[in-house]
Amino acid sequence: MKSASIVCLLLAAFAVSSPSRAQESALAATPPMGWNSWNHFAEKIDDATVRAQADAMVASGMRDAGYVYINIDDTWEGQRDAQGFIHANQKFPDMKALADYVHSKGLKLGIYSSPGPKTCAGYEGSYGHEEQDAQTYAQWGVDYLKYDLCSFNDSAMKQAASPEAAHQLMIGAYQKMHDGLLKTKRPIVFSLCQYGMDSVWRWGASVGGNSWRTTDDINDTYERMETIGFGQAGLSRYAAPGHWNDPDMLEVGNGGMKPDEYRTHMSLWALLAAPLLAGNDLTKMTSETVALLTNREVIAIDQDPLGKQGDRVWAEGAYEIWAKPLTGGAKAVGVFNRQSTWMKPSQVEVDFRMLGFKDAVHVRDVWQGKDLGRISGLYKVTVPTHGVVLLRITP
Ligand code: GAL
Repeated sequence: MKSASIVCLLLAAFAVSSPSRAQESALAATPPMGWNSWNHFAEKIDDATVRAQADAMVASGMRDAGYVYINIDDTWEGQRDAQGFIHANQKFPDMKALADYVHSKGLKLGIYSSPGPKTCAGYEGSYGHEEQDAQTYAQWGVDYLKYDLCSFNDSAMKQAASPEAAHQLMIGAYQKMHDGLLKTKRPIVFSLCQYGMDSVWRWGASVGGNSWRTTDDINDTYERMETIGFGQAGLSRYAAPGHWNDPDMLEVGNGGMKPDEYRTHMSLWALLAAPLLAGNDLTKMTSETVALLTNREVIAIDQDPLGKQGDRVWAEGAYEIWAKPLTGGAKAVGVFNRQSTWMKPSQVEVDFRMLGFKDAVHVRDVWQGKDLGRISGLYKVTVPTHGVVLLRITP
């Protein structure tokens, strides 16, 4: 199919589905915030651990800072009964009771499935049971679904006659679950996970996606986080209230990166208006980790109601400047230094005119929580290697 006709089809799909999309944009008006079990616990996740994470989200102050979703990733799934209804495995004896517990803390519960017959970890997927599974999730009190392509790619899509046919099958599979979720009448955030295939940012919203993963998995190294984070350049135009680019979950607090590197991770994700899904063990956080995850000013950049994703505005060698428009004509600006860590911190010159400010601006250093006063023209900042200076600029 010619790309022009794909665009027409997408526009048509967009127009047809607009009433339900209004409901969705209320659902994820700002990027979803919460916690997900996968990065830290992987398959070692059970009812008691999820409850402990919910408790810790409240006790640590994360809930009050805006984190809401407690998301169970893969490996909760058990068998289907004779009527085809999915049941959780022995690690989750009563999913409804767990949802009630999470709700009693003022939080929401998320769950995980695949459009394929099997999930990525080889557990039962939703293939052929989409509507039934959506009903089950709604009955349990689930508020968020991560829908991970997994075996749908290896089974149905591999057998398709052409790449276009495979693409249509994938779109159909996501649409099917979205229809199932809408039928439940329960607001359930729909989080697409297919690793950014087929430029998902171009069509994710048309199948009801409130977010879509733009990349393959993150891990707890600076190199992987850097590849993913800085690789998001150019995607800002596809994010808006109700549907967001998702560069994968946070690794902050898992121990594999230095403080400057985690500050880069948080700053970049906030500038990207990315979902902020903590991926660490919330019951064992240092005060540094709590401070990184709950910095109100950083979260306010991510959650700014204007709903605009930031993008790269300047790069020279290992130095980059990213900017995100905020309400009231303000801008968040990240100055990054990607030089190797054996080098000294570098001075980078920020040109406020290049950022669209002709007159003097008010500048605040976000991580330092310090007002730097009114500045015009050029401003030099010293940025540590693998680090960032995050500024909030107000006209
Ligand atoms: C991957 C996904 C991860 C995690 C994992 C579970 O495909 O990208 O975020 O969900 O599956 O098996």
